[in-house]
Amino acid sequence: MEHAAAPAWAMLAYLVAGVFFILALRGLSSPASSRRGNRFGMAGMLIALVTTLVTHDVANIAEIGIAVLLGGIVGFTIARRIAMTAMPQLVAAFHSLVGMAAVLVAVAAFMNPEAFGILDAAGNILAVSRVEMALGAAIGAVTFSGSVIAFAKLNGNMSGAPIMLPARHVINLGTLVAIIAGTALYAMAPEAGPGEGWVFWAIVFSAFAIGFLLIIPIGGADMPVVISMLNSYSGWAAAAMGFTLHNTAMIITGALVGSSGAILSYIMCRAMNRSFISVIAGGFGVDASAAAAGGGEQRPYKSGSAEDAAFMLEQAEKVIIIPGYGMAVAQAQHALREMADKLKAKGVEVKYAIHPVAGRMPGHMNVLLAEASVPYDEVFELEDINSEFAQCDIAFIIGANDVVNPAAKTDKTSPIYGMPVFDVDKAKQVFFIKRSMGGVGYAGVDNDVFYMNQTMMLLADAKKMVEEIVKSLD
Ligand code: TAP
Repeated sequence: MEHAAAPAWAMLAYLVAGVFFILALRGLSSPASSRRGNRFGMAGMLIALVTTLVTHDVANIAEIGIAVLLGGIVGFTIARRIAMTAMPQLVAAFHSLVGMAAVLVAVAAFMNPEAFGILDAAGNILAVSRVEMALGAAIGAVTFSGSVIAFAKLNGNMSGAPIMLPARHVINLGTLVAIIAGTALYAMAPEAGPGEGWVFWAIVFSAFAIGFLLIIPIGGADMPVVISMLNSYSGWAAAAMGFTLHNTAMIITGALVGSSGAILSYIMCRAMNRSFISVIAGGFGVDASAAAAGGGEQRPYKSGSAEDAAFMLEQAEKVIIIPGYGMAVAQAQHALREMADKLKAKGVEVKYAIHPVAGRMPGHMNVLLAEASVPYDEVFELEDINSEFAQCDIAFIIGANDVVNPAAKTDKTSPIYGMPVFDVDKAKQVFFIKRSMGGVGYAGVDNDVFYMNQTMMLLADAKKMVEEIVKSLD
């Protein structure tokens, strides 16, 4: 590989790609412009890729072509087949690949520094490159192992409950200090080639360990923050790769992903009423004993049928729909919009209330409702609509659970304590669609809303139930 300075036109092309990425982020800030944003992102990536291929003295374009083709086919097939409900796991899995790519680039530079043009006159790897490689490998390794654990938790291969190691904060802090000290040592070691490579490898393995250690204690309500944090890490890992590979476009893109992911994590923390530091330190202040599954003793509840629900919905003046993960599982969004259309035609005011962590990834519910062509002006965020439950006739909960659980307000031992939730108890009537009384939400806790006087449980698959309500509304 040749690392002479890129020609001026290439720098300009990278700059244009960077502008496209910024426009993409801007577009993605609203559901209405997100498709345009995505197109900007794709165009930027195409410019960056073509420029890199043209300007680099690529050893074997055929090999790269084959790799792109194979990766493209795999990515395309997975993206087409993936169920909407498995999207968060997929995102976690893809983040792990970015992390591993960063580790592999650093390892390749370490094994064959000459090819990367990072040797000084004495034949040692340049100090600045050693720092870049150590950082790239460390961030990449944390991203990889953290994302693998996040994948396992989201995919149900591992329990979503926090796993608390004794003295975990001491272990985490010790590992972090070891990584920083290792990076400093590696930067200062004059002959840090393969002979003295133990420092480099120690950094890589400690970073794999800390990614694992940071994510296993995170459970219940904090997982959303972890997803966006890993997104941010994958960006910084890519930026570090960009430095090692002397690729401006990668540095720009990585920094954009890294900083926007960090901002998203911060927003999620605020929305969840969590301290950013306590989440990234790994399960700070969470009581492991509190994460036990609920549903102990049997308590009385009322249940109803689709006909009952349809009858009362028709009589209502104002209905607020709260969708959650179960709506995604059932793919009930189209039937739901049909139901809302029928109610609106009968003069009922219908609004949708979206919790920042409803579903399993940021924006999950917004995407599904947009897919079903729900008008954006009927969709409201938690802080904008929460005060309206007091004036609403029916709070229509469909596949949501944790985001309406009052334990978040009252029970200090609950894993979701402190998370803001919808005040559905203020509504005159509550309809609660879920499949069974036994099923719990992501955090695994019982929900007092099931047993309230004004609650009617509609126990069925969400899509089936809503379709039956639609039929009864005819
Ligand atoms: P959850 O609390 O997970 O509850 C889902 C509900 O849907 C359950 O009550 C379940 O009960 C029901 N359900 C599942 N499949 C169904 C189907 N086919 N038909 C009808 N109901 C069905 O959902 P939520 O309120 O959206 O809460 C989100 C939770 O996920 C929060 O704890 C959040 O912290 C966590 N989380 C969020 C994210 C992001 S970024 N959004 C990421 C990771 C974790 P049954 O099994 O009885 O049907």
